[in-house]
Amino acid sequence: MVLMGQEKRHQRPPLKRSNKMPDITITLIDRNQIEHKLLTPTDVSLTLMELCKAYEFPIEGICGGMALCASCQCYIKSEHTLPEKSSDEEAMLAEAFHVQGNSRLGCQIPITENLDGLVVEIAPEE
Ligand code: FES
Repeated sequence: MVLMGQEKRHQRPPLKRSNKMPDITITLIDRNQIEHKLLTPTDVSLTLMELCKAYEFPIEGICGGMALCASCQCYIKSEHTLPEKSSDEEAMLAEAFHVQGNSRLGCQIPITENLDGLVVEIAPEE
């Protein structure tokens, strides 16, 4: 559930850019069900997990993006086409807690232009 009027817009973190691709906006729902509009570049090889960390959301990313911990689990709430899950991601999600049909590991989702408008929710802590 998203609470009415509970939306926060954030300044984009100072990320070094390789060229001038337009920024995109991703909506992140935190563990208190508050929506945050995150502006992000698409040309700096970020993953969804790294974006959340750059904005200082409580996603741990314990394994550093190796699909070995599930501390970056999130729920995809929009209909965007995402990269297929690797066998490593499938295996990690098979062992993780709070897994739903729309669960993904944020570290396995590169931020690309086609993710403009993506809505994603941070999964509960394990
Ligand atoms: S950071 Fe460990 S699985 Fe994503």
